[in-house]
Amino acid sequence: MTQLASSINPFDPNAPHLRADPYPTFAALRENDPIHRAAHGYWVVSRHDDVRSTLMDRTGFGQGDFVQNIRLFYGPDFNVLGHTSYRWLSEVFLMQDPPQHTRVRGLVTGALTAKRVRAMEPRIREITTQLIDDLAQAHTADMIGQFAYRLPVLVMCDMLGVDPFDPRLAAIIDAIAQSFIVFEARALSEDELNVADREIARLEDFFDELFLERSRNPRDDLTTALVQSGGGVDALSHHELITVAIGLFGAGFETTAHMIGNGLLCLNRFPDQWDTLVSDPEGHAPGVVNETLRYESSLIATYRTALEEREIHGQTVRPGEKVLTLIGAANRDSRVFDRPDEFDIARDASNHMSFGGGIHFCAGAELARLEGRVAFAELARRLPTLRVNTDAPAWREGFLFRGMSTLPASW
Ligand code: HEM
Repeated sequence: MTQLASSINPFDPNAPHLRADPYPTFAALRENDPIHRAAHGYWVVSRHDDVRSTLMDRTGFGQGDFVQNIRLFYGPDFNVLGHTSYRWLSEVFLMQDPPQHTRVRGLVTGALTAKRVRAMEPRIREITTQLIDDLAQAHTADMIGQFAYRLPVLVMCDMLGVDPFDPRLAAIIDAIAQSFIVFEARALSEDELNVADREIARLEDFFDELFLERSRNPRDDLTTALVQSGGGVDALSHHELITVAIGLFGAGFETTAHMIGNGLLCLNRFPDQWDTLVSDPEGHAPGVVNETLRYESSLIATYRTALEEREIHGQTVRPGEKVLTLIGAANRDSRVFDRPDEFDIARDASNHMSFGGGIHFCAGAELARLEGRVAFAELARRLPTLRVNTDAPAWREGFLFRGMSTLPASW
């Protein structure tokens, strides 16, 4: 192991300095210690090849034993499933292996096929136009709170049939942010855990009511389709439906909102790229989406558990051991991307790992790409002089999700 690697030994994903700029640490891991042993004994892989092959290897790696995985952070006596938030997480299909995973994933991907997503474009453009109309005259805005969050939240409301004027909506959005902290790879404080438990309970009540209402009064929305998917061996229980809806709702806006915010920040840091986008918004918007996903992914890492023994760079990874796959490091690997630290919307960035890979590949990738494409194209077309007014971005706390809490801009 080299000197550089030992300076980051052991890697701690929750170290506060990683918020501002995790990439030098990622580079040190990738170049000097590609299979690194971190605190709590889990492994960290950072090269593109290793991240990809870990996520794609369905017999070697999976989600494994949820309770054991969480106890790694808290100790052997921690009552994982006694917490509403961890119980919920244990039932989310992302955290499960086949056959449980397969059964629920099929239902969700059926609702998010490329064809269905394409049909949503006019509505997504209408929502985007309306949001920009509301902002344009003010000449200044917080692009996270007033745009990046609102667009995917309104799209998810549309999809699930949630009333965007429901007075509980703000609390529901906040509940997602406060409870998705259970995805983080660390022991939460007692306070954080109490809040996460309380907020998952709030979300469960909200979606419980929504499903009961749709079973009485069906409509043309995903919630009704989920309710009516009953019957047959693969039918989901009422409780499973609630779990899926919370996961979809949260996954559907949290990462997408940060993709839009991160993209605006990158375009501001590389102003020639903004000028290129403005010169042909529709033509360049897909490149902005792909390059933003590569350069500043809103989901920076994920985990797997070894199901069989594997050897990575001469290191044996044993069944039951956890592996942190650093998506954000893989996306800057010079073995795959030329000039990886440059934001270049003209490059072919389609090899990025930001939607994961293998059987858990992001179910909402098409929708996220579409929302990003429309958002960047419309912003460049309608607000061509947009400039971000910050040299020190307000990165949110936490490691796995990478995004800002505010992004002041003017035009
Ligand atoms: C820029 C936006 C997004 C990013 C970066 C992103 C990223 C990811 C990643 C990396 C995974 C795989 C996690 C793993 O393997 O452990 C994933 C899974 C998932 N995503 Fe996304 N996502 C985004 C948007 C969305 C949207 C819009 C939706 C839904 C409407 C969604 C729904 C899901 C679901 C349901 C899964 C679980 C799939 C499974 O376990 O089979 N995502 N996402």
